[in-house]
Amino acid sequence: MRKKIVAGNWKMHKTLPEAIELVSELKNKLQNFQPACDVIIFPPFVNLESVSELLKDSPIHLGAQNMHFEESGAFTGEISADMLKSVGAEFVIIGHSERRHIFNEPDEWINEKVKRALKKGLKPILCIGEKLEEREEGLTEKVLRRQVIEGLKGISSEAIKNIVIAYEPVWAIGTGKTAAPQEADSAHAFVRAIITELYDSDVAQSLTIQYGGSVKPNNAKDLLSQPNIDGALVGGACLKADSFIEIIKSA
Ligand code: PGA
Repeated sequence: MRKKIVAGNWKMHKTLPEAIELVSELKNKLQNFQPACDVIIFPPFVNLESVSELLKDSPIHLGAQNMHFEESGAFTGEISADMLKSVGAEFVIIGHSERRHIFNEPDEWINEKVKRALKKGLKPILCIGEKLEEREEGLTEKVLRRQVIEGLKGISSEAIKNIVIAYEPVWAIGTGKTAAPQEADSAHAFVRAIITELYDSDVAQSLTIQYGGSVKPNNAKDLLSQPNIDGALVGGACLKADSFIEIIKSA
């Protein structure tokens, strides 16, 4: 049985006081029930240290939204895996579609980041997903296959146990359009089949594959009840404690 993961990607939202307010509210409200899933939040870099302090007596895990693939050096504006570890991050989102398409991150960088994160003991959430025009041209499977193969190049079957994959169709992110649950489930099954080809079926069956793209309290249950959907990577709906908690409850 794969344990579900519900993760909240805050993106470029929340100042430090706002972050403290949201995390305090989440902690308080989560005290009343034991989530059946793992919960991770991904605040902006500058909030990580304070949020980490706040989460010390909480079941919520902490992650960062990005990192650089080099160990350290002259990379103005960048953040290393060691820096993230030193402020309490356990997870890191890699290859989010906004990084791929707004900041033009190529598959090679994404693979380097996955490898560096694993080497440093951070658990990567590797994001994959097709753009609208790719879907319309019938290229979804081709794109997913490329992103999985390139993203996981050089990753052993032992190391992949520390990786989570998030399938996020780009046309569903921040648009209010979600993939139909069965449609998302078949994309997840396709990804699992590629993992079986690359590794074996045990690895594929134990891999957590989250869905992301306009997950909201009103669609979370349908998505999360699909056999191949092991959780949600939530953007917009994680910025308010109540809607994030509703999604956690659906899992
Ligand atoms: P969204 O974002 O829930 O706002 O669509 C999801 C994501 O980008 O991870």
